Amino acid sequence: MRRARRDDFSRRLVRENGLSPDNLILPVFVLDGAKKTEPVASMPGVLRRTVDELLPVAEQALTLGIPALALFPVIEPGLKTAGAEEAWNAKGLVPRAVRELKKRFPELGVITDVALDPYTTHGQDGLIDTSGYVVNDETLVALSKQALAHAEAGVDIVAPSDMMDGRVAALRRAMDEKGFIHTRILAYSAKYASAFYGPFRDAVGSGTSLGKGDKKNYQMDPANSDEALHEIALDLEEGADYVMVKPGMPYLDIVRRVKDRFGVPTFVYQVSGEYAMLQAAAAQGWIDGEACMMEALLSFRRAGADAILTYFAIDAAKRLKG
Ligand code: PBG
Repeated sequence: MRRARRDDFSRRLVRENGLSPDNLILPVFVLDGAKKTEPVASMPGVLRRTVDELLPVAEQALTLGIPALALFPVIEPGLKTAGAEEAWNAKGLVPRAVRELKKRFPELGVITDVALDPYTTHGQDGLIDTSGYVVNDETLVALSKQALAHAEAGVDIVAPSDMMDGRVAALRRAMDEKGFIHTRILAYSAKYASAFYGPFRDAVGSGTSLGKGDKKNYQMDPANSDEALHEIALDLEEGADYVMVKPGMPYLDIVRRVKDRFGVPTFVYQVSGEYAMLQAAAAQGWIDGEACMMEALLSFRRAGADAILTYFAIDAAKRLKG
């Protein structure tokens, strides 16, 4: 075994998996207003940006060969309601950001999140009844309106991250009826009720709204694996173009099972808490941050992921470009 490992050339000859900028998707946090950036305390190196401040990042991503961005809005507290009406405001932050990005960089893929949590006063991804339970079918109506507002703005891919039952079918039907036959669906199919989303909730401000609440009655139980295959099968049947496993590194076994079973485009989300852990240890000098970043990203590819949503996308693409 060691003869093949002896030199760089001979290691490269037998390397089974690789990482390219083509495999990366950059999640970004969008603020309302102009000429403003804000650091996210729990995600060193990540900034919330107004749309004008986002344009140079989009251009950099494009130059580095990153195929797509995923937008996450920071919604002002005054615009949040129990019914999340701002989520389908055609002039809202997300549709405006999509229009601007697609106008400036038509060749850059733009992905939007479909879920109500940035827009609800209670921080849940769906609408709630008087007991606080997230109601499924009423939420599907709201999500369809939200996806349509994004499609009308020209988004390339809508990504439902809400984990309601039947959302992929509802979105597909709503978009097809209005003629948005090319708008793709990236389904957060196996999305777990994970504690690794903490820094993200700080970044978009949904954590304070959620308070002591949790999402366990719609996001998956971290103990489950077969159930992920069931979720994926349903989303594919309903018309998902791509499926996703989330979080990433603690769920590599799920990525592998999904890829083996279905052989469909399988994405993985290296979530905010994973990013924060690596950055924190690197900042302490306890690990080599860059090397660990590249190793973690490669592990997703080895597990079977096609594309990776990662806050490291720019850093990794720079490294890959040499
Ligand atoms: C919300 C959403 C979340 C993430 C992406 N979309 C958080 C949640 O479900 O509470 C998490 C991403 C991350 O942690 O990086 N629908």
